Amino acid sequence: MSAKLLVTGASGQLGSLVVKHLLDTFNLPAANIVAGSRDTARLAGFAARGVETRTVDFDDVALVDSFAGIDRVLIISTDRLDVPGIRLKQHTAAVDAAKKAGVGRILYTSMPSADDNKITFGPDHFGTEEAIKASGLAYTIFRNGWYMENLFMSLPQAVASGQWYSAAGEGVIAHIGRDDIARAIAAGLVSPGDGNVTHTLTGLTAYTTDEIAAQVAEVTGKPLAVIHLDDEQLAGGMAAAGVPAPFIPTFVSFDTNTREGKIAMVTDDAEKLSGAKPVALKAFLEASKAALGA
Ligand SMILES: NC(=O)c1ccc[n+]([C@@H]2O[C@H](COP(=O)([O-])OP(=O)(O)OC[C@H]3O[C@@H](n4cnc5c(N)ncnc54)[C@H](OP(=O)(O)O)[C@@H]3O)[C@@H](O)[C@H]2O)c1
Repeated sequence: MSAKLLVTGASGQLGSLVVKHLLDTFNLPAANIVAGSRDTARLAGFAARGVETRTVDFDDVALVDSFAGIDRVLIISTDRLDVPGIRLKQHTAAVDAAKKAGVGRILYTSMPSADDNKITFGPDHFGTEEAIKASGLAYTIFRNGWYMENLFMSLPQAVASGQWYSAAGEGVIAHIGRDDIARAIAAGLVSPGDGNVTHTLTGLTAYTTDEIAAQVAEVTGKPLAVIHLDDEQLAGGMAAAGVPAPFIPTFVSFDTNTREGKIAMVTDDAEKLSGAKPVALKAFLEASKAALGA
């Protein structure tokens, strides 16, 4: 009998793409897939295709039941950044439940340099990696690089004003499209190989903020100047722009992390896993012209 694979957070943006790739790219029979979410009503599309849906909530005391009969579970990291440390508690509960339920392998969505970075929530990921390793279960860790889609948090306003505020200095990032990450993870779920492995999933080329701005200007036809600030100035600007105070340290830490070279790596792990070359930043920007206000 073929392995039964559970994707948690299957109603989320990444989780739903992983399930889609399992079905459509890797042609896995629906009977081998279980889609989990806090709200199974949001999984109706997958249920209609014959995928079993289950309630999966890392805060639920009955979590172990959600993992019954599962051979491999993809634990998608949650979005709970509002309370520091809560994600680590959630992820650790998921690891414990997987172990108690007799799951054969844990796969987890971590971040690059989980053990050495400047991101405020970095310890959640590193702590989860450590908990997975301590569980004694076989594991696959995907250290997901920053999504290209993250650029939409700042670019539309920056393009409109012609100014992009940054404390990233000359630091570089090889952004990768969310869909390319999902395809690579789906491949790793289908064929995990033996033993324990950590993949770092990045885009093809690492660019400075100025280089990204130049590409954006070319694509939109609108000039875009990067205004280089230090962390304190960036935090002050965010506060003045109305960014809620609890989120400012996290947003600033992204730039600190980049400036200090903690997310400068470029790997071909995504292509090695899925067989598909990730989309280049320029092509992504071209395809996102409308969202950029071009
Ligand atoms: N690498 C990057 O650039 C980047 C950027 C943004 C986020 N992330 C991380 O990657 C994850 C997936 O990204 P995304 O774009 O798919 O974000 P998203 O659409 O906001 O998804 C959030 C995910 O968290 C899950 N979740 C929340 N609370 C949960 C709980 N109590 N128990 C189980 N699952 C819970 C949701 O599952 P259900 O709603 O289905 O229950 C959903 O899959 C995020 O949650 C975050 O940890 C990475």
